[in-house]
Parts: sequence; C-alpha cells; structure tokens
Amino acid sequence: MIQVFTNIKSLVQVEENPVERVCGSDMAKIQTIENAFLIVRDDKIENFGKMADYDTVIQLYDNEPEIREYDITGRMIFPTFCDSHTHIVYAGSREIEYIDKIRGLSYEEIAQRGGGILNSAKRLAESSVEELVETAWNRLEEMKWMGTGAIEIKSGYGLYPEEELKMLRAIKKLRQMSPLTIRATFLAAHAIPMEYRGRQSEYVDMVINETLPMVAAEELADYIDVFCDKGFFTVEDADRILMAGMKYGLRPKIHANELDFSGGVQVGVKYNALSVDHLEYIGDAEITSLLDSETMPTVLPGAAFFLDLPLSPVRKMIDAGLPVALASDYNPGSSPSGNMQFIASLGCIRYKMLPEEVVNATTINTAYALGVQDELGSIARGKRANFFITEPVPTYQFIPYAYGHNKVAAVMLNGEMQ
Ligand code: NIG
Ligand code: FE
Repeated sequence: MIQVFTNIKSLVQVEENPVERVCGSDMAKIQTIENAFLIVRDDKIENFGKMADYDTVIQLYDNEPEIREYDITGRMIFPTFCDSHTHIVYAGSREIEYIDKIRGLSYEEIAQRGGGILNSAKRLAESSVEELVETAWNRLEEMKWMGTGAIEIKSGYGLYPEEELKMLRAIKKLRQMSPLTIRATFLAAHAIPMEYRGRQSEYVDMVINETLPMVAAEELADYIDVFCDKGFFTVEDADRILMAGMKYGLRPKIHANELDFSGGVQVGVKYNALSVDHLEYIGDAEITSLLDSETMPTVLPGAAFFLDLPLSPVRKMIDAGLPVALASDYNPGSSPSGNMQFIASLGCIRYKMLPEEVVNATTINTAYALGVQDELGSIARGKRANFFITEPVPTYQFIPYAYGHNKVAAVMLNGEMQ
C-alpha cells in the first residue's frame, strides 16, 4: 500500500546519502525540506521532495490500487527518536529514595545502604515475567506517544542467573509484542549483592561462568554491559566480563565515567564497544581514546539532571571532532522519564548543544548506538517508515525550545499509523 503525506511544513533530518554517524562540526548541520511531500510504500520510505514537484511525481503512482493521502498542512515530520540506553523493565518506583536524595544523601550513599539498584533487585525478584512485561509495556507505549520508535532495554536488576533470565525473557516478549524496534542488553554487572560484599571477584566469576552462558544459550541479548565506575565494578572486572562476552559474540555497550575517571571509557574502547554511556568524567585521555574508535560516546542528560551530577563536557567532545549521542537512561533510580523531547531540551539548555546537534544526537547517532543505523535514524529512501507528525509548530527549533510539552501529534511505525 502507498501512503502519501502532503503539505508538510518541514520534513526534518532528511538524508539523500545516509551516513553511519555524525561527528564534530557536522553535528550542527541537518537537512530539511520545506513544504514537502513524503511517500511510504508498505513499511518503507519510498520517496520525498518539494510540493512543487508533487504533481509530476504522483503521476508515477497512477496504477497503484490503493493510495492513502494525509494533508498535514502546518505540521512537520521528524524521524522517530532512537533511545539507545534504557532500563524500562523494572518493578516498582523509588520515590522514597528521591526524598532521601532531597534530604542530602548521594546516589552512592543510598546504594551503600541497600537502596538503589539492590532495592530494585529485591522487588524484581518478587515479580513475575508477566508483571514485568505489563508495566514495561505501559512505559513503551508512553514513550511511543512522545516520539520514540526504537529503544535499547537492559537487564541488570536480576543480579542472579535466574532473575537475569527473567528480565531478558520479559524484554524478548516485549520485542515480539511492540511495534517499536527493540534491542536487548545483558547488563551483566550492575551492583554487588549484599552477600557478595568483599567477594567481588567471586560475584564476577558467577556472572561469567553461570549467568552469561545461560543468556547466550537462549540468545536473549544483543549486547553486554558493565557498570564500570567508582563503588561499583572495576576496570579489571569489566575486562574479564567483556572478554567473556566477546566469546559469545556480544558487543559491549557500557556504563562508564558517571561517578569518576573510572577507566571505563578506555576499557570500552579496548573491546570495541558500540557505545560508552554517561560520561560525566571525561578528560583529554578519554577524548583521545574515543577519537580513534568506532565507539559512540553517549550522554544521558536525564540522569545528570535528576542526580545533579557534574555535566559531561559535550562541547569539548564535539569540538574535538567526536560524535555525541543523547539517550534517556529511563530507570527508576536515576532517570524516571523516557521523554526524548525533554532530553533534547536538556541537551540545548544544559550542554549548550544547538537544536541541529540534538536532532543528530537523538536520531542518527542513537540509531548507531543501537546498531540500527541502516534502517532507522533519518528520513531516507529505503529506510523504515518510522516518523512522527508534530502539532502545528513554528520552527523545528521549537521542539527542544518548548520543554515539557508533548509536540508529537501522530506516530507512524513500520508504515502503520499508531
Ligand atoms: O544508568 N548507573 C547505573 N545504572 C543506572 C541506574 C540504575 C538505578 O539506579 O536503578 C543508570 O543510571
Ligand atoms: Fe543506565
């Protein structure tokens, strides 16, 4: 079936020749077509152009049995956001810790007291796969209506083999049910259970010798992750786990340098990580290591905002020629929101990124960090028809400017209006 969108005020993030990722000064450029049309065949983008050429182009479709036309005067079309870092499978919220935080406890202090990730692990152990699927489904749907079309979901609240499998099976179920494109990451080392305190290397042994082979045997994960940071897992732990993961073909996407210059970025690059994420603590050594790599530096503005962390030096990274991606990190402890429009606003407001830079950082670059850049991330011929139609807006810059509003009016995923 053919679906045609006409009188598009602006078709945003168009690519004639799609690129894998956008780096450095190129991040400040996006291509748009004003007063445009867009043609979708089945689940793919087939063609686009200026309304001035529409009558000529549409004649080529004279023999099509069914053409559905949408006149969207006054509205824009953007490719859906790709959100390359989330933890949306979890049981229960953690607003009690939020209050502890307001009273002055740090993220690490809350974790030391058995709160934080361990608190979520306890609740997860009490939940069934069905319960996890149901709550995560609601989060996925909410994200869809805010413009997200592809998402990475991590395990990591299971901590033990059977519980991790439960989380990953829930992600598999969501993948079968949802129109969003989903990739699964086995977050192998997220926090040390109380009973393993002081025996960290034994915990890592269990992850490598028991959990990982089971995850691989059921083919439940695309990627592998380690929280390599102060108070959590060391570079040596990460080294062992990532090496073991590589043997099963699992490319790393790791949590790094959120709480300190942890060496996480370098160990990620060493194992050709698809992305290293968080990056509050980035100096010249980290930038040098990333410049010579295929690893996508990914900043999580929601977590830094919610935890009041120092800001990642995004300007310095872009000015050095690096690509930057922005993802939501949606999770109950450090970023309880999956609103990518707000993430884009934070990129502009707090990290001094230009609107064009946040568009690249939340579409093409996060598609790369998800491993789906060939199919998603821009409006390009042959790519999947995943895009959203905006409310009437004056400019594309209005999207990150008008923070807190949902500017998404309609969403198409895989050629189907949602
Ligand atoms: O990305 N940094 C580690 N993990 C998550 C937080 C998980 C939690 O607090 O539940 C994050 O921020
Ligand atoms: Fe995270």
